[in-house]
Amino acid sequence: MKRRNFIFDIFSISLMSSLSTRLKAKNFNFTPMVRSISTWKTTEANLKAGLLLDKGIDGLTAAVEGVAVEEENPKNTTVGFGGAPDRTGKVTLDACVMNHLGDCGAVVAVENIVNVARLAKDVMEKTPHVMLAGKGAHDFAISEGYKQTDLLTEKSKEDWKKWLESEQYKPIINIENHDTIGMLCLDKNKNISGACTTSGLAYKMRGRVGDSPIIGSGLFIDNKVGGAVATGLGEEVLKTVGSFLVVELMRQGKSPHEACEAAVKRIVSSNSQENKFQVAYIAMNKDGDVGSYSIEPGFTYMDYFKGENKEKITESAF
Ligand code: GLY
Repeated sequence: MKRRNFIFDIFSISLMSSLSTRLKAKNFNFTPMVRSISTWKTTEANLKAGLLLDKGIDGLTAAVEGVAVEEENPKNTTVGFGGAPDRTGKVTLDACVMNHLGDCGAVVAVENIVNVARLAKDVMEKTPHVMLAGKGAHDFAISEGYKQTDLLTEKSKEDWKKWLESEQYKPIINIENHDTIGMLCLDKNKNISGACTTSGLAYKMRGRVGDSPIIGSGLFIDNKVGGAVATGLGEEVLKTVGSFLVVELMRQGKSPHEACEAAVKRIVSSNSQENKFQVAYIAMNKDGDVGSYSIEPGFTYMDYFKGENKEKITESAF
């Protein structure tokens, strides 16, 4: 057994046993084939989505309500409320959603609204458009009854002020500074949907938009094949239309793991990695098989399946 697999098994077993105990204690009945996966250690968000799927809720609603947990978490500095601001001190959020029919919605550079994945779903369902940006997206949110919230917390303001002292911008690869929650949900009707939401790179240039709200880059679903979501340095995902690439590679017969690996290696092959950065993909095919791959070690994702919510370690290119 490879060392990494061994560590992963030990890790999963301990997480599994505590969660299984909780679910068994509640006489919980899971729905056998539903599955939810999400980037990074987004335990509560993935559990929320998984439990909604178990109750028979559709995949898109489960994904949007799942990622809302992180959007509302002030401790997550890469998403929603408490997300790191741009270099001018303004928090601007990006998100997109896509469902099993190929319908999609997105919002970019939205200020003062917490649940931007929900807003992207509203763009999809209530407007004739796919994407709304900036003030237009914000005004649409207000017209739909979203409340305005200052997204800067005391902590994120303090961190930004500290950053201003040096104004050094470096893409970040470690676990604590992960970015973006992307989620894929397979519902009881065998339909895959997904959501992706982020505050983008910390201290980005004002107006910078990454991969997360771009259908095909941050997220892509083809219900006949599967779905994929990306996390990491958005510029590199955008240049390779990463999530679309993963789905197309699955269409050609690759497993989710193989497809994520090939998409990551396409980025690696055109970069020297002198300036280290992280990109990772997670993917699910129409049979509910899942996989992932990252450039740098340290990337994990959550997998809710058969009533258990496990953290999984990902193989990496380096
Ligand atoms: N992956 C998030 C971003 O680059 O904005």
